[in-house]
Amino acid sequence: MENSLHRDCFAAIAEIGIVPVINIPRPELAAPLAKALCAGGIPVIEVTLRNDTALESLRRIKAENPAMLAGAGTVLTCRQVDDALAAGADYIVTPGFNPKVVSHCMEVGAPVLPGCVTPTEIEAGREAGLRLFKFFPSEQLGGVKTIKELCGPYRDIRFVPTSGITLANIPAYLSCEHVAAVGGSCMAPAALVQAEDWAGITALCREAVRASLGFRIMHVGINGDASEGEANARRFAEIFDLPYISGGRSDFAGTAVECCKAPFPGAKGHIAIGTHSVERAVASLRARGVRFREEFKNVDDKGRLIAVYLEEEIGGFAVHLLKCN
Ligand code: 3PG
Repeated sequence: MENSLHRDCFAAIAEIGIVPVINIPRPELAAPLAKALCAGGIPVIEVTLRNDTALESLRRIKAENPAMLAGAGTVLTCRQVDDALAAGADYIVTPGFNPKVVSHCMEVGAPVLPGCVTPTEIEAGREAGLRLFKFFPSEQLGGVKTIKELCGPYRDIRFVPTSGITLANIPAYLSCEHVAAVGGSCMAPAALVQAEDWAGITALCREAVRASLGFRIMHVGINGDASEGEANARRFAEIFDLPYISGGRSDFAGTAVECCKAPFPGAKGHIAIGTHSVERAVASLRARGVRFREEFKNVDDKGRLIAVYLEEEIGGFAVHLLKCN
């Protein structure tokens, strides 16, 4: 069954949301590559065991960046599991569901992410106690559309899709509730690794993180009391030909203007910033020193965080995150 190591490791990966999957051609490139990924906001890497020096690369990454999560990918045998763990791997990724390899990982307590892309494979994985699977090769298998269908009968599972992930399709993947994280090489393409273009890789990682969070302004909240709130919403609706929507604690003009009828955070009002995942956004912003007001948060019927206020106000405006697609 999944143990706490599993949960910690994969919960951390879900918070990061993006896993570079890299075939490192020479071990000398491993540590600077890892540093470039971390500098771009992605402190995780899956090193594929597709060349003779992959284990040495893994060893160097863990020796020089111990805080970074490093998985071993393309693991096909139990022997490779042992070798990868000895080299410092935090978790094991297998392209398909190999019962021997998965059982061995369970026995030695290694978090394992096997590829399970059919109902039969998913049921084998669930039987082994797993709830998180690699979805490979994702785009070729229909991507998000297929994942959503598979999660109809299996409502308690999530996937890490890899292959064909791009900066352009990251938002569609990461706004899907059944996707824990995406993996791939788009944030560290082979040509840039080969050229040792660490600044270029860091810049691509930042772009990938930006795409994964998808921050954008959703609405502005205008403070007021019951009568002001209604009058403000009606006036905005009238001027800009927006639907007037009457609510409980506030009225809306369209979706962009919220006119508060009761006290809300913020001396002047508030600004709602949308994101594909509030949980991932909170983790990313926390790592940058932003703090949150836990008493002002909303969760959906499945207990997932869908809104939370930042601790600080900016220019008299409170700011809250809001889940959107
Ligand atoms: C792999 O196995 O190499 C990964 O799925 C990466 O795929 P990508 O290069 O299409 O991102």
